[in-house]
Amino acid sequence: MTTSHTDMKVRDVAHPMLAQLEPEDGSRQRAVVLMRRILSSKVRSQNHRLLAETGAPTFQARHGRPPESLADIEESLFDVPAYRMWSAANRAVQEMLWMSVGEPIFRDQARIEAAAKALSEAPDKRGSLHLDPGYDPSPEVAEVDIHLQPGGYALARSPTDVTAGALYETGGNVFSFSVGGRRDDSKAAAISRLIEQEYPGFVPRRILDLGCSAGAASAAYAWRYPDAEVHALDIGAGMLRYAHARAESLGVAVHFHQMDASRLAFADASFDLVVSHNVLHEMSDQTRQAMIAESMRVLRPGGLLIYQDVNVRSITDPVVKADIVWEKHFNGERFWLAYSNADLCADLLAGGFPSEQIREHEIPAVAGALRWYVIAARKPETQGTPA
Ligand SMILES: C[S@@+](CC[C@H](N)C(=O)[O-])C[C@H]1O[C@@H](n2cnc3c(N)ncnc32)[C@H](O)[C@@H]1O
Repeated sequence: MTTSHTDMKVRDVAHPMLAQLEPEDGSRQRAVVLMRRILSSKVRSQNHRLLAETGAPTFQARHGRPPESLADIEESLFDVPAYRMWSAANRAVQEMLWMSVGEPIFRDQARIEAAAKALSEAPDKRGSLHLDPGYDPSPEVAEVDIHLQPGGYALARSPTDVTAGALYETGGNVFSFSVGGRRDDSKAAAISRLIEQEYPGFVPRRILDLGCSAGAASAAYAWRYPDAEVHALDIGAGMLRYAHARAESLGVAVHFHQMDASRLAFADASFDLVVSHNVLHEMSDQTRQAMIAESMRVLRPGGLLIYQDVNVRSITDPVVKADIVWEKHFNGERFWLAYSNADLCADLLAGGFPSEQIREHEIPAVAGALRWYVIAARKPETQGTPA
């Protein structure tokens, strides 16, 4: 049994771990959204003109040749005062975003933690939470505050702390210009639709969501495939406590695990569907390749791997690509450029997926203008005989 992508609402469901906002909190968050909108559309669209009129001539005068490489373009853009102004404002707005999201969460922290604890310990809970006190989160994710989230994904300041999840969920809603908060989890919805179209009749009985954060997609899969057993993992105890309580509050069963996506503690051939959402762009080449090998190992023959991520891999315009470098230098997105340049088909081939099974897609979000990159592959039914 599956639930259609039109009749469910997961991400917009109010639950008790959302901070209670004062009117000023809402104003501040709306102001941040507005500033982000202006900076990322109206101001950013001037970059080509700034490069042509000022950046490139300055570079030419300094080096005796026009800017060619991505590093040249970056240097040229930073020669333009208006670009430096945009850069500083963009960084400042990202910091303001976290202040506008963090203040109500920290103010309401005791109530949020108590609500999460009650949900996680409820006698009628449906899913489970498996924290590993011996797990030391990989420094490649834990030592950087990716997109400046305070404390990063691994933040866990006490045995009941859920702040990382609270920040991630509300930050995501504000970051996505407030559209995400009033909507179904659009990533899981888009992937369920892709499965219906590309793999008709495929109904997974065991699903694994790698790098689940606050569990929005994990909960959505549990809703969409009510007969499936859904497992999800991430690196931080604070994130996972929140994700588990959130899923319980939505009435869906998800089993959350503190585990590295590149070292899975699950049995061989134990999942029908392995998914990841927006995780590829946050890991090194080595971690990604290990995650692919582990996904292959835990998939049953005929099982399906689907990784979805941001749609920056098709960008060839060097001025737009300079934005990716900016993310790396100023927004804690240290692997954004590596992801945009990676040969993911070659990685899946090296991980044992046959080339005829590997498909790349660019798919629209279920609502809004966003488009996603997706790479999918089916594990052969038998070794040497593709499904
Ligand atoms: C951008 S978030 C995406 C979260 C969620 N899938 C979504 O789409 O809302 C990336 C998540 O991947 C997790 N992650 C990154 N590297 C990981 C690894 N090696 N093992 C497990 N999780 C990882 C991070 O901790 C973070 O929570």
